[in-house]
Order: sequence, then structure tokens, then C-alpha cells
Amino acid sequence: MDIREELRKVMRVYPQGVTVVTTKFENSLYGLTVSAFTSISLDPPLIMISISKLSSMHKILSNCESFTINFLAEDQKIVSDIFAGRIKVKDRFEAVQYFTERTGCPIIKGVRAFIECKKTIAYDAGDHSIILGEVINARKLNDKNPLVYYNQQYTTIVSPEKLEIIEDWWF
Ligand SMILES: Cc1cc2nc3c(=O)[nH]c(=O)nc-3n(C[C@H](O)[C@H](O)[C@H](O)COP(=O)(O)O)c2cc1C
Repeated sequence: MDIREELRKVMRVYPQGVTVVTTKFENSLYGLTVSAFTSISLDPPLIMISISKLSSMHKILSNCESFTINFLAEDQKIVSDIFAGRIKVKDRFEAVQYFTERTGCPIIKGVRAFIECKKTIAYDAGDHSIILGEVINARKLNDKNPLVYYNQQYTTIVSPEKLEIIEDWWF
């Protein structure tokens, strides 16, 4: 089988948290659903996202000064679908409520947490670009469960108490 198809199959069964990356560029707001997010360094505080060159936001993120990572909660599947273009709306930012803090990039209401970043550098990486951001503001907002993407479906985490019951079965 083609290596790309094998890789797709493997990545499908790797659970990933779902975020929406937002930015403000030349007075317009932009947002895209992104699961390729990870924290990189604490000192200095750096995170990265990986953005497809085919995405409508690729050029915007390459040119913007700052961006925000919105960590979606399990009750925000629709938000994920709107920002992935799976649910068509006239204006993505009329479909959700949001507020702003340090950067002016939208923080979507109801998210579990957010990170505001100053963009530092973008690396070319095949059909994607890896964009590094220096964290200038980060906050956990509530204790909701995360929205997780796994096996081409939305799901969430099993609570630690349930995991203990499963483990008890073994010992
Ligand atoms: C759960 C989920 C995770 C996604 N993760 C990424 C990602 O990490 N990077 C990326 O470039 N696109 C990702 N996408 C795809 C984009 O959100 C979007 O669908 C695609 O880029 C087309 O968007 P556009 O119509 O705004 O160009 C993801 C989509 C979904 C549903």
C-alpha cells in the first residue's frame, strides 16, 4: 500500500485534541480548525501549529503578527465543523460569540482554554507550513472535557475514575 495511505491510517487512530486557530489581519478576522498543535518549549514559551498550504488561512497565517489557539470543549463539535468549512456559513465570526484580550485575535466563547501568541517563524514542511508562536497570554477557563478527533469522528476522554475500573479488571 502507498506510504501516504498507511500514514493516514495510523494517524486516524492517534487521538488529537481539536483547536480553532484565529487571527486578525488588516482588520478582518480569520479562523481554522487545527488538530496539529503542540507545545514546544517553556523557556522561552513556544508552541507550534502545522497548516496545509491548500488551506484558505495559509497565506494569512504566513503574514499575520499574532494568532490565538482556542481549545474546544466536547460540546463544540459544531464550532469545529464551522471552522473546518464542513458547515457552510456566510461569516464564521457571526456564527460564534467571541471576545478579545491582548492580541485582538478572537477567543471563542465556551472554549476550555486559550493561548495568545506572537508569530515568530514559519518553516516550510512539504505540503504544510510549521508556524511557531511565542506565548504572550494563556488561560484555562473551565473544567469541561476536551473535544477529541479520533478515527474520523469527534469523541472525548474517558474520565480517570472509569479508567481505574477498567484497570481493576486486570489485577
Ligand atoms: C478535526 C480537524 C482537524 C484539522 N486539523 C488541521 C490541521 O492541523 N492543519 C490544517 O491545515 N488543517 C486541518 N484541518 C482542515 C481545516 O480545518 C480545513 O478543513 C481545511 O484547511 C479547509 O479549510 P478552508 O475551506 O477554510 O480552506 C482539520 C479539520 C478537522 C475537521
